Amino acid sequence: MAVDVLLGLQWGDEGKGKIVDFLANNYGMVARFQGGPNAGHTLKFDGQKFVLHTIPSGIFREGLLNLIGNGVVVDPVTLRKEIHNLEKLGIDYRDRLMVAKKAHLILPTHRYLDAASEASKGKEKIGSTLKGIGPTYMDKTGRNGLRVGDIMLPEFEQKYKILRSKHIHLGKLYPDIEFELEKEETAWMESLELLRSLKLVDGEYFIQEFLQKGHKVLAEGAQGSMLDIDFGTYPYVTSSNTVTAGACTGLGISPRQIGEVIGVTKAYCTRVGGGPFPTELEDETGETLRREGAEFGATTGRPRRCGWLDLPQLRYSIMLNGVTQLAVTKIDVLNQFEEIKVATAYRYDGKMTDQLPFDLCDIKVEPVLESFPGWEQSLAEVSEYENLPLPAKRYLEAMEHRSGVPISMVSTGPERQELLLKSVSAAV
Ligand code: GDP
Ligand code: IMO
Ligand code: MG
Repeated sequence: MAVDVLLGLQWGDEGKGKIVDFLANNYGMVARFQGGPNAGHTLKFDGQKFVLHTIPSGIFREGLLNLIGNGVVVDPVTLRKEIHNLEKLGIDYRDRLMVAKKAHLILPTHRYLDAASEASKGKEKIGSTLKGIGPTYMDKTGRNGLRVGDIMLPEFEQKYKILRSKHIHLGKLYPDIEFELEKEETAWMESLELLRSLKLVDGEYFIQEFLQKGHKVLAEGAQGSMLDIDFGTYPYVTSSNTVTAGACTGLGISPRQIGEVIGVTKAYCTRVGGGPFPTELEDETGETLRREGAEFGATTGRPRRCGWLDLPQLRYSIMLNGVTQLAVTKIDVLNQFEEIKVATAYRYDGKMTDQLPFDLCDIKVEPVLESFPGWEQSLAEVSEYENLPLPAKRYLEAMEHRSGVPISMVSTGPERQELLLKSVSAAV
Protein backbone atom coordinates (compact mmCIF):
# COMPACT_ATOMS: atom_id res chain seq x y z
CA MET A 1 0.00 0.00 0.00
CA ALA A 2 1.36 3.35 -0.96
CA VAL A 3 0.02 5.84 1.57
CA ASP A 4 1.22 5.72 5.14
CA VAL A 5 -0.53 7.94 7.66
CA LEU A 6 1.19 9.69 10.55
CA LEU A 7 -0.94 11.32 13.21
CA GLY A 8 -1.11 12.38 16.85
CA LEU A 9 -2.73 10.05 19.37
CA GLN A 10 -3.27 12.53 22.21
CA TRP A 11 -4.31 16.21 22.32
CA GLY A 12 -1.83 17.44 19.71
CA ASP A 13 1.82 18.53 19.94
CA GLU A 14 3.03 14.93 20.21
CA GLY A 15 6.06 15.73 18.07
CA LYS A 16 4.52 14.87 14.68
CA GLY A 17 6.62 17.45 12.81
CA LYS A 18 9.88 15.96 14.02
CA ILE A 19 8.89 12.40 13.09
CA VAL A 20 7.56 13.42 9.66
CA ASP A 21 10.79 15.29 8.94
CA PHE A 22 12.78 12.21 9.96
CA LEU A 23 10.75 9.77 7.86
CA ALA A 24 10.17 12.03 4.87
CA ASN A 25 13.09 10.74 2.80
CA ASN A 26 11.37 7.33 2.58
CA TYR A 27 8.55 8.96 0.60
CA GLY A 28 8.08 10.94 -2.59
CA MET A 29 5.48 13.25 -1.10
CA VAL A 30 4.26 14.51 2.26
CA ALA A 31 0.58 15.53 2.23
CA ARG A 32 -1.22 17.42 5.03
CA PHE A 33 -4.83 16.26 5.23
CA GLN A 34 -6.67 18.45 7.74
CA GLY A 35 -6.44 21.34 10.18
CA GLY A 36 -4.89 24.66 9.39
CA PRO A 37 -2.72 27.28 11.05
CA ASN A 38 -3.95 26.12 14.46
CA ALA A 39 -1.19 23.51 14.04
CA GLY A 40 2.41 24.22 14.93
CA HIS A 41 4.84 21.50 13.89
CA THR A 42 8.38 21.99 15.13
CA LEU A 43 11.45 20.69 13.31
CA LYS A 44 14.99 21.01 14.61
CA PHE A 45 18.12 20.27 12.69
CA ASP A 46 21.62 21.70 12.39
CA GLY A 47 20.91 23.52 15.67
CA GLN A 48 18.07 25.53 14.09
CA LYS A 49 14.37 25.46 14.89
CA PHE A 50 11.53 25.75 12.35
CA VAL A 51 7.81 25.88 13.04
CA LEU A 52 5.40 24.98 10.25
CA HIS A 53 1.67 25.74 10.44
CA THR A 54 0.26 24.99 7.00
CA ILE A 55 3.17 23.67 4.97
CA PRO A 56 3.82 19.92 5.29
CA SER A 57 6.86 18.87 7.33
CA GLY A 58 8.63 17.34 4.32
CA ILE A 59 9.51 20.74 2.86
CA PHE A 60 13.09 20.72 4.14
CA ARG A 61 13.90 17.45 2.36
CA GLU A 62 15.26 18.14 -1.09
CA GLY A 63 13.31 16.90 -4.08
CA LEU A 64 10.27 15.89 -2.07
CA LEU A 65 6.75 17.04 -3.04
CA ASN A 66 4.56 18.63 -0.39
CA LEU A 67 0.81 18.82 -0.84
CA ILE A 68 -1.60 20.92 1.20
CA GLY A 69 -4.66 18.71 0.83
CA ASN A 70 -8.31 19.60 0.29
CA GLY A 71 -9.08 18.83 3.94
CA VAL A 72 -6.85 21.67 5.12
CA VAL A 73 -8.12 25.20 5.75
CA VAL A 74 -5.68 27.77 4.43
CA ASP A 75 -5.04 31.28 5.70
CA PRO A 76 -3.08 32.89 2.83
CA VAL A 77 -1.50 35.37 5.23
CA THR A 78 0.02 32.63 7.40
CA LEU A 79 1.03 30.69 4.30
CA ARG A 80 2.81 33.74 2.90
CA LYS A 81 4.73 34.19 6.17
CA GLU A 82 5.77 30.56 6.12
CA ILE A 83 6.90 30.83 2.51
CA HIS A 84 8.89 33.99 3.25
CA ASN A 85 10.68 32.08 6.00
CA LEU A 86 11.54 29.34 3.51
CA GLU A 87 12.81 31.95 1.06
CA LYS A 88 15.06 33.45 3.73
CA LEU A 89 16.57 30.01 4.24
CA GLY A 90 17.06 29.57 0.51
CA ILE A 91 14.66 26.59 0.38
CA ASP A 92 13.50 25.92 -3.14
CA TYR A 93 9.75 25.32 -2.78
CA ARG A 94 8.37 26.50 -6.14
CA ASP A 95 8.12 23.14 -7.87
CA ARG A 96 7.63 21.16 -4.68
CA LEU A 97 4.74 22.84 -2.89
CA MET A 98 1.21 22.16 -4.15
CA VAL A 99 -2.10 23.41 -2.79
CA ALA A 100 -5.36 21.57 -3.45
CA LYS A 101 -7.91 23.82 -5.15
CA LYS A 102 -10.62 22.31 -2.96
CA ALA A 103 -8.94 23.42 0.29
CA HIS A 104 -11.08 26.05 2.00
CA LEU A 105 -9.94 29.60 2.64
CA ILE A 106 -9.83 31.21 6.06
CA LEU A 107 -11.13 34.77 5.67
CA PRO A 108 -10.27 37.59 8.07
CA THR A 109 -13.92 37.54 9.16
CA HIS A 110 -13.59 33.85 10.08
CA ARG A 111 -10.91 34.86 12.54
CA TYR A 112 -13.12 37.68 13.77
CA LEU A 113 -16.01 35.24 14.33
CA ASP A 114 -13.71 32.77 16.09
CA ALA A 115 -12.58 35.45 18.53
CA ALA A 116 -16.10 36.82 19.05
CA SER A 117 -17.55 33.34 19.62
CA GLU A 118 -14.85 32.48 22.15
CA ALA A 119 -15.37 35.81 23.94
CA SER A 120 -19.08 34.99 24.28
CA LYS A 121 -18.34 31.66 25.98
CA GLY A 122 -16.62 33.12 29.05
CA LYS A 123 -15.39 30.35 31.34
CA GLU A 124 -16.69 27.67 28.97
CA LYS A 125 -14.36 28.76 26.18
CA ILE A 126 -12.65 26.07 24.12
CA GLY A 127 -9.26 27.75 24.26
CA SER A 128 -9.21 27.99 20.48
CA THR A 129 -6.03 29.20 18.80
CA LEU A 130 -8.31 31.89 17.26
CA LYS A 131 -7.03 31.17 13.75
CA GLY A 132 -10.56 30.99 12.34
CA ILE A 133 -10.65 27.20 12.15
CA GLY A 134 -14.15 26.56 13.55
CA PRO A 135 -15.96 29.22 11.47
CA THR A 136 -14.15 28.14 8.29
CA TYR A 137 -15.13 24.48 8.68
CA MET A 138 -18.66 25.65 9.56
CA ASP A 139 -18.86 27.47 6.24
CA LYS A 140 -17.45 24.39 4.49
CA THR A 141 -20.10 22.03 5.89
CA GLY A 142 -22.73 24.77 5.63
CA ARG A 143 -21.88 25.02 1.93
CA ASN A 144 -21.01 28.68 2.07
CA GLY A 145 -17.23 28.50 1.96
CA LEU A 146 -14.67 29.88 -0.46
CA ARG A 147 -12.03 27.53 -1.78
CA VAL A 148 -8.47 28.08 -2.90
CA GLY A 149 -9.47 27.44 -6.54
CA ASP A 150 -12.04 30.24 -6.33
CA ILE A 151 -9.29 32.87 -6.23
CA MET A 152 -8.79 32.31 -9.96
CA LEU A 153 -12.42 33.03 -10.84
CA PRO A 154 -13.49 36.42 -12.21
CA GLU A 155 -16.38 36.52 -9.72
CA PHE A 156 -14.10 35.87 -6.73
CA GLU A 157 -14.36 39.36 -5.29
CA GLN A 158 -18.13 39.25 -5.50
CA LYS A 159 -18.22 35.90 -3.71
CA TYR A 160 -15.86 37.25 -1.07
CA LYS A 161 -18.03 40.29 -0.42
CA ILE A 162 -21.17 38.17 0.02
CA LEU A 163 -19.51 35.89 2.56
CA ARG A 164 -17.88 38.78 4.39
CA SER A 165 -21.18 40.59 4.81
CA LYS A 166 -22.81 37.38 6.13
CA HIS A 167 -20.06 37.16 8.70
CA ILE A 168 -20.46 40.76 9.79
CA HIS A 169 -24.16 40.12 10.25
CA LEU A 170 -23.45 37.00 12.29
CA GLY A 171 -20.92 38.85 14.39
CA LYS A 172 -23.72 41.00 15.78
CA LEU A 173 -24.82 37.94 17.81
CA TYR A 174 -21.64 38.15 19.84
CA PRO A 175 -20.13 40.69 22.21
CA ASP A 176 -18.08 43.49 20.65
CA ILE A 177 -14.42 42.63 20.35
CA GLU A 178 -11.46 44.53 19.05
CA PHE A 179 -10.64 43.50 15.49
CA GLU A 180 -9.01 45.71 12.88
CA LEU A 181 -10.92 44.31 9.93
CA GLU A 182 -9.70 46.81 7.35
CA LYS A 183 -6.05 46.22 8.18
CA GLU A 184 -6.49 42.44 8.27
CA GLU A 185 -8.36 42.52 4.99
CA THR A 186 -5.64 44.51 3.22
CA ALA A 187 -3.01 41.99 4.28
CA TRP A 188 -5.28 39.11 3.24
CA MET A 189 -5.97 40.52 -0.22
CA GLU A 190 -2.25 41.19 -0.75
CA SER A 191 -1.38 37.65 0.27
CA LEU A 192 -3.62 36.20 -2.45
CA GLU A 193 -1.08 37.27 -5.04
CA LEU A 194 1.45 34.75 -3.75
CA LEU A 195 -1.21 32.05 -3.39
CA ARG A 196 -2.21 32.57 -7.04
CA SER A 197 1.40 32.07 -8.09
CA LEU A 198 1.67 28.66 -6.37
CA LYS A 199 0.91 25.31 -7.99
CA LEU A 200 -2.82 24.96 -7.40
CA VAL A 201 -3.83 21.39 -8.20
CA ASP A 202 -6.77 19.02 -8.25
CA GLY A 203 -5.33 17.28 -5.22
CA GLU A 204 -7.19 13.99 -5.63
CA TYR A 205 -6.00 13.50 -9.23
CA PHE A 206 -2.56 14.81 -8.41
CA ILE A 207 -2.00 12.33 -5.60
CA GLN A 208 -3.50 9.39 -7.51
CA GLU A 209 -1.32 10.03 -10.57
CA PHE A 210 1.69 10.26 -8.28
CA LEU A 211 0.80 6.93 -6.64
CA GLN A 212 0.23 5.31 -10.04
CA LYS A 213 3.80 6.19 -10.97
CA GLY A 214 4.87 3.96 -8.08
CA HIS A 215 5.71 6.66 -5.53
CA LYS A 216 4.91 6.56 -1.83
CA VAL A 217 3.08 9.24 0.12
CA LEU A 218 3.19 10.10 3.81
CA ALA A 219 -0.07 11.68 4.98
CA GLU A 220 0.61 14.13 7.83
CA GLY A 221 -2.07 14.77 10.41
CA ALA A 222 -2.45 17.84 12.57
CA GLN A 223 -3.80 18.07 16.12
CA GLY A 224 -4.50 14.71 17.78
CA SER A 225 -7.23 12.08 18.07
CA MET A 226 -8.63 13.54 21.30
CA LEU A 227 -9.29 16.77 19.41
CA ASP A 228 -11.21 14.97 16.64
CA ILE A 229 -14.59 16.57 15.93
CA ASP A 230 -16.42 13.22 16.27
CA PHE A 231 -14.38 11.24 18.77
CA GLY A 232 -12.53 13.85 20.80
CA THR A 233 -13.58 15.45 24.07
CA TYR A 234 -16.43 17.35 22.42
CA PRO A 235 -17.02 20.31 22.48
CA TYR A 236 -13.39 20.87 23.54
CA VAL A 237 -12.09 19.77 20.16
CA THR A 238 -11.06 21.19 16.83
CA SER A 239 -13.40 21.20 13.82
CA SER A 240 -11.91 18.47 11.63
CA ASN A 241 -11.46 14.70 11.60
CA THR A 242 -7.98 14.22 12.93
CA VAL A 243 -8.18 10.40 12.78
CA THR A 244 -7.00 8.15 9.93
CA ALA A 245 -10.37 8.42 8.19
CA GLY A 246 -9.63 12.14 7.76
CA ALA A 247 -6.71 11.25 5.49
CA CYS A 248 -9.13 9.69 2.98
CA THR A 249 -11.50 12.65 2.85
CA GLY A 250 -8.74 15.20 3.27
CA LEU A 251 -6.66 13.98 0.33
CA GLY A 252 -8.94 11.97 -1.94
CA ILE A 253 -7.53 8.51 -1.32
CA SER A 254 -9.42 5.32 -0.57
CA PRO A 255 -9.08 3.38 2.72
CA ARG A 256 -7.64 0.51 0.66
CA GLN A 257 -4.64 2.65 -0.26
CA ILE A 258 -3.55 3.10 3.35
CA GLY A 259 -0.66 0.98 4.58
CA GLU A 260 1.07 1.79 7.84
CA VAL A 261 -0.57 4.04 10.41
CA ILE A 262 2.12 5.61 12.54
CA GLY A 263 0.70 6.91 15.81
CA VAL A 264 2.78 9.52 17.60
CA THR A 265 2.47 9.71 21.38
CA LYS A 266 4.44 11.46 24.04
CA ALA A 267 5.72 9.30 26.89
CA TYR A 268 3.36 11.39 29.05
CA CYS A 269 0.40 13.64 28.15
CA THR A 270 -0.18 17.31 27.43
CA ARG A 271 -3.14 19.41 26.41
CA VAL A 272 -3.41 23.09 25.57
CA GLY A 273 -6.73 24.92 25.94
CA GLY A 274 -9.82 23.87 27.88
CA GLY A 275 -11.49 20.49 28.31
CA PRO A 276 -11.13 17.27 30.27
CA PHE A 277 -7.73 15.76 30.94
CA PRO A 278 -8.03 12.77 33.29
CA THR A 279 -4.35 12.42 34.21
CA GLU A 280 -3.59 16.14 34.52
CA LEU A 281 -1.12 17.07 37.27
CA GLU A 282 -1.80 20.48 38.69
CA ASP A 283 1.11 20.24 41.12
CA GLU A 284 4.88 20.35 41.31
CA THR A 285 5.17 17.19 39.18
CA GLY A 286 3.11 18.77 36.39
CA GLU A 287 5.30 21.84 36.64
CA THR A 288 8.42 19.68 36.29
CA LEU A 289 7.03 18.02 33.16
CA ARG A 290 6.25 21.44 31.69
CA ARG A 291 9.72 22.76 32.48
CA GLU A 292 11.65 19.67 31.35
CA GLY A 293 9.52 19.28 28.22
CA ALA A 294 9.48 23.02 27.41
CA GLU A 295 5.74 22.59 27.13
CA PHE A 296 4.67 25.88 25.63
CA GLY A 297 2.52 26.02 22.47
CA ALA A 298 4.33 26.27 19.12
CA THR A 299 1.49 28.39 17.70
CA THR A 300 0.24 30.46 20.64
CA GLY A 301 3.05 30.18 23.21
CA ARG A 302 0.50 29.18 25.88
CA PRO A 303 1.71 26.88 28.67
CA ARG A 304 0.56 23.31 28.02
CA ARG A 305 -1.21 21.37 30.74
CA CYS A 306 0.80 18.26 31.66
CA GLY A 307 0.02 14.84 33.12
CA TRP A 308 0.91 11.14 33.13
CA LEU A 309 0.42 8.78 30.21
CA ASP A 310 -3.19 7.66 29.95
CA LEU A 311 -3.56 4.08 28.66
CA PRO A 312 -7.37 4.00 28.26
CA GLN A 313 -7.01 7.17 26.17
CA LEU A 314 -4.09 5.75 24.17
CA ARG A 315 -5.93 2.49 23.46
CA TYR A 316 -8.99 4.47 22.37
CA SER A 317 -6.93 6.41 19.84
CA ILE A 318 -5.22 3.25 18.61
CA MET A 319 -8.63 1.66 18.08
CA LEU A 320 -10.00 4.63 16.14
CA ASN A 321 -6.97 4.95 13.90
CA GLY A 322 -5.91 1.36 13.25
CA VAL A 323 -2.42 2.23 14.43
CA THR A 324 0.20 -0.27 13.25
CA GLN A 325 3.26 1.26 14.94
CA LEU A 326 3.95 3.76 17.69
CA ALA A 327 6.48 6.58 17.70
CA VAL A 328 7.08 7.52 21.33
CA THR A 329 8.44 11.03 21.79
CA LYS A 330 9.95 13.05 24.63
CA ILE A 331 11.06 10.05 26.67
CA ASP A 332 14.00 12.22 27.79
CA VAL A 333 11.59 14.54 29.61
CA LEU A 334 11.12 11.76 32.17
CA ASN A 335 14.87 11.42 32.80
CA GLN A 336 14.91 12.91 36.27
CA PHE A 337 11.82 11.19 37.69
CA GLU A 338 12.36 8.62 40.43
CA GLU A 339 8.89 7.26 39.82
CA ILE A 340 6.76 7.46 36.65
CA LYS A 341 3.03 6.86 36.74
CA VAL A 342 0.60 5.64 34.13
CA ALA A 343 -3.20 5.54 34.18
CA THR A 344 -4.44 2.01 33.53
CA ALA A 345 -8.19 2.63 34.03
CA TYR A 346 -10.63 5.23 35.34
CA ARG A 347 -12.74 5.14 38.46
CA TYR A 348 -15.97 7.09 38.59
CA ASP A 349 -19.34 6.71 40.18
CA GLY A 350 -17.98 3.82 42.26
CA LYS A 351 -17.12 1.84 39.11
CA MET A 352 -13.96 1.06 37.19
CA THR A 353 -13.79 1.38 33.43
CA ASP A 354 -11.13 1.31 30.76
CA GLN A 355 -13.34 3.17 28.29
CA LEU A 356 -13.70 6.91 27.83
CA PRO A 357 -17.14 7.86 29.13
CA PHE A 358 -19.47 9.84 26.86
CA ASP A 359 -19.89 12.54 29.49
CA LEU A 360 -16.17 12.95 30.18
CA CYS A 361 -16.61 16.73 30.01
CA ASP A 362 -19.25 16.79 32.74
CA ILE A 363 -17.90 14.29 35.25
CA LYS A 364 -14.57 13.95 36.99
CA VAL A 365 -12.98 10.56 36.45
CA GLU A 366 -10.22 9.48 38.77
CA PRO A 367 -7.32 7.79 37.02
CA VAL A 368 -6.15 4.47 38.46
CA LEU A 369 -2.38 4.85 38.48
CA GLU A 370 0.40 2.30 38.28
CA SER A 371 4.00 3.21 39.11
CA PHE A 372 7.13 2.44 37.17
CA PRO A 373 10.68 3.05 38.39
CA GLY A 374 12.46 5.92 36.63
CA TRP A 375 15.98 5.71 35.18
CA GLU A 376 17.27 8.98 36.66
CA GLN A 377 19.95 9.56 34.05
CA SER A 378 20.45 11.43 30.82
CA LEU A 379 19.81 9.66 27.51
CA ALA A 380 22.01 12.06 25.56
CA GLU A 381 24.64 9.41 24.87
CA VAL A 382 22.20 6.67 23.92
CA SER A 383 22.13 6.10 20.16
CA GLU A 384 20.69 2.57 20.02
CA TYR A 385 17.42 1.35 21.48
CA GLU A 386 19.23 -1.61 23.02
CA ASN A 387 21.43 0.74 25.06
CA LEU A 388 18.57 2.47 26.84
CA PRO A 389 18.66 2.04 30.61
CA LEU A 390 16.66 -0.99 31.72
CA PRO A 391 13.87 0.97 33.49
CA ALA A 392 13.31 3.00 30.30
CA LYS A 393 13.02 -0.22 28.28
CA ARG A 394 10.64 -1.65 30.86
CA TYR A 395 8.48 1.46 30.62
CA LEU A 396 8.38 1.33 26.82
CA GLU A 397 7.72 -2.42 26.80
CA ALA A 398 4.79 -1.83 29.16
CA MET A 399 3.45 0.74 26.70
CA GLU A 400 3.66 -1.83 23.91
CA HIS A 401 2.07 -4.64 25.89
CA ARG A 402 -0.73 -2.54 27.34
CA SER A 403 -1.52 -0.88 24.03
CA GLY A 404 -1.03 -3.95 21.84
CA VAL A 405 0.99 -2.00 19.26
CA PRO A 406 4.74 -2.24 18.63
CA ILE A 407 6.95 0.79 19.10
CA SER A 408 9.09 1.50 16.05
CA MET A 409 10.69 4.79 17.10
CA VAL A 410 11.68 6.44 20.37
CA SER A 411 12.55 10.11 20.34
CA THR A 412 15.10 11.22 22.92
CA GLY A 413 15.35 14.91 22.09
CA PRO A 414 14.05 17.58 19.69
CA GLU A 415 16.88 17.29 17.13
CA ARG A 416 16.39 15.29 13.93
CA GLN A 417 18.98 12.64 14.82
CA GLU A 418 17.81 12.18 18.42
CA LEU A 419 15.75 9.16 17.48
CA LEU A 420 16.14 5.47 18.30
CA LEU A 421 14.81 2.96 15.80
CA LYS A 422 13.39 -0.27 17.07
CA SER A 423 12.75 -3.36 15.05
CA VAL A 424 8.98 -3.72 14.86
CA SER A 425 9.03 -7.48 14.32
CA ALA A 426 10.88 -7.93 17.62
CA ALA A 427 8.27 -5.96 19.48
CA VAL A 428 5.18 -6.97 21.52
P1 GDP B 1 3.62 18.65 16.76
O1 GDP B 1 2.57 19.70 16.71
O2 GDP B 1 3.06 17.29 17.03
O3 GDP B 1 4.52 18.65 15.57
O4 GDP B 1 4.53 18.99 18.03
P2 GDP B 1 5.05 20.45 18.46
O5 GDP B 1 6.12 20.86 17.53
O6 GDP B 1 3.92 21.39 18.66
O7 GDP B 1 5.59 20.15 19.92
C1 GDP B 1 6.58 19.21 20.16
C2 GDP B 1 7.73 19.91 20.87
O8 GDP B 1 8.59 18.94 21.44
C3 GDP B 1 8.61 20.73 19.94
O9 GDP B 1 9.14 21.81 20.64
C4 GDP B 1 9.72 19.74 19.56
O10 GDP B 1 10.93 20.40 19.19
C5 GDP B 1 9.88 19.00 20.85
N1 GDP B 1 10.30 17.60 20.75
C6 GDP B 1 9.96 16.68 19.79
N2 GDP B 1 10.46 15.47 20.11
C7 GDP B 1 11.12 15.63 21.29
C8 GDP B 1 11.83 14.75 22.16
O11 GDP B 1 11.93 13.55 21.93
N3 GDP B 1 12.36 15.29 23.30
C9 GDP B 1 12.24 16.60 23.61
N4 GDP B 1 12.78 17.04 24.74
N5 GDP B 1 11.59 17.47 22.81
C10 GDP B 1 11.03 16.98 21.68
P1 IMO C 1 -0.73 20.46 16.36
O1 IMO C 1 -0.94 20.06 14.93
C1 IMO C 1 -2.45 21.22 20.27
C2 IMO C 1 -6.50 22.92 20.39
C3 IMO C 1 -6.64 24.34 20.88
C4 IMO C 1 -8.04 24.28 21.47
C5 IMO C 1 -8.76 23.35 20.50
C6 IMO C 1 -9.54 24.07 19.41
O2 IMO C 1 0.38 21.43 16.55
O3 IMO C 1 -0.65 19.26 17.23
P2 IMO C 1 -8.94 25.50 17.25
O4 IMO C 1 -7.90 26.56 17.03
O5 IMO C 1 -8.80 24.31 16.39
O6 IMO C 1 -10.32 26.08 17.24
O7 IMO C 1 -8.71 25.03 18.77
O8 IMO C 1 -7.77 22.55 19.90
N1 IMO C 1 -5.52 22.76 19.26
C7 IMO C 1 -4.33 22.20 19.39
N2 IMO C 1 -3.68 21.76 20.49
N3 IMO C 1 -1.89 21.10 19.06
C8 IMO C 1 -2.54 21.52 17.95
O9 IMO C 1 -2.07 21.29 16.70
C9 IMO C 1 -3.80 22.14 18.09
N4 IMO C 1 -4.68 22.69 17.23
C10 IMO C 1 -5.74 23.05 17.96
O10 IMO C 1 -5.68 24.64 21.86
O11 IMO C 1 -8.02 23.65 22.72
MG1 MG D 1 2.08 21.50 17.66
